[in-house]
Amino acid sequence: MQELSMNLLDIAQNSVAAGSKLTEITVLIDTARRSLVLRIADCGKGMSEETLRRVTDPFYTTRTTRKVGLGLPLFREAAETAGGKMTIRSKEGVGTTVEASFELGNIDLPPLGDVPGSIVNLVQCNPELDFIFRVESDGETFCMDTREIRGILQGVPLSSPEVALFLREYLEEHTENLLKRSNLI
Ligand SMILES: Nc1ncnc2c1ncn2[C@@H]1O[C@H](COP(=O)(O)OP(=O)(O)O)[C@@H](O)[C@H]1O
Ligand SMILES: [Mg+2]
Repeated sequence: MQELSMNLLDIAQNSVAAGSKLTEITVLIDTARRSLVLRIADCGKGMSEETLRRVTDPFYTTRTTRKVGLGLPLFREAAETAGGKMTIRSKEGVGTTVEASFELGNIDLPPLGDVPGSIVNLVQCNPELDFIFRVESDGETFCMDTREIRGILQGVPLSSPEVALFLREYLEEHTENLLKRSNLI
């Protein structure tokens, strides 16, 4: 995967597959600490200790359609290659938090890519689920919660093309300046 927004989407899809009704996606940028953190926290079914142990092994997956699950190993590899690490906290019946850190300015740090696009994709494909999208960048914060958007839309589904267009512009406008700090080092 060339862009971290693709990893983000992929890992968030694990949360959807795990039955998470509310998934929080956070991008933390701290340029003084040269730190980028991507966090996906869900309230899905969680992982057993056995799964948790084996989950970063590329030859392990619980899916039957494909033998090899690569989402988490690729995310871990991206983090470790760029001077960071990936951690997973998970509890069965409670949920899972996957967090990857990266060193800003590291030569192997992939570009963030189209983060708003990934979020809109996720929301549009799962209009019945809720997502919180947070960006914290050098002390400035942006937060979108689909539960609030739902209230404003008054019954118009999150999957409608007009809403996708609105959301994309809204997210781009409010996160562009925050996200671009990640490549100013
Ligand atoms: N958020 C999550 N909640 C519960 N289980 C998860 C979660 N993320 C990953 N898993 C478990 O870890 C396995 C490996 O995930 P991943 O590396 O993304 O590969 P894949 O999704 O192709 O199986 C999944 O099949 C699933 O069993
Ligand atoms: Mg996956």
